[in-house]
Amino acid sequence: MEFMLDTADINQIKQLDKLITVAGVTTNPTIITASGKRVETVIEELCDYLAPNQKLFFQTVSQTPEGMLDEARAICALRPQNTYVKIPVTHAGMQVIKAAKQEGLGVLATAIYSADQAFLAAMNGADYLAPYVNRMCNYGDGVAQVLDLLAMLEKQQVDARVIAASFKSTDQVHRLIAAGIHAVTVPPAVVFAMLDHPGTELAVQEFSAAWSKSFGRESFSA
Ligand code: E4P
Repeated sequence: MEFMLDTADINQIKQLDKLITVAGVTTNPTIITASGKRVETVIEELCDYLAPNQKLFFQTVSQTPEGMLDEARAICALRPQNTYVKIPVTHAGMQVIKAAKQEGLGVLATAIYSADQAFLAAMNGADYLAPYVNRMCNYGDGVAQVLDLLAMLEKQQVDARVIAASFKSTDQVHRLIAAGIHAVTVPPAVVFAMLDHPGTELAVQEFSAAWSKSFGRESFSA
């Protein structure tokens, strides 16, 4: 199971990379523009920081097949390995997913709102499928659709990996991990909500107070 961060904020990536096991970083045009930095700066920061085995994902912006394919090639050439192009599953995008896979590029099919769209992208060879869980919840049960997708892929023995995305709550992430999702990409705010619990901090203060009261120090041994 791969746990990725859905952000271009390099400071939060560095902080979380120390705390948890980060398999990679996903971005999209909104995330990059929200950083307030030039795209070249964001690319440089991410490529410099991430370890070679950590995956990196950038999305195409063009809407024509020719433009998308050019961008796909450029994105996948940013690092020697583990760099994937995110391609929305529009008609142009579906066409480009096929072409990019024929060239051996790493592809994540994105902006997925249904299990059917995802399945067809998988049949075109996409390595990763990114259903937008929270956005799908505006049209029904997003988590249930992703579970359905997992079942479709397994039944048909199609080996694309589902990277569930667009999370707004820990419950959405939790339910998919518990159900055996292949990968998730989670924004930092939701990761911190998963990680932090006020009870843990209180417990640690309680242990510490008991220790210093009995032994007059704050470390295990003198
Ligand atoms: C990730 O790859 C997607 O682009 C992202 O999770 C979409 O998230 P949003 O629905 O918060 O825009």
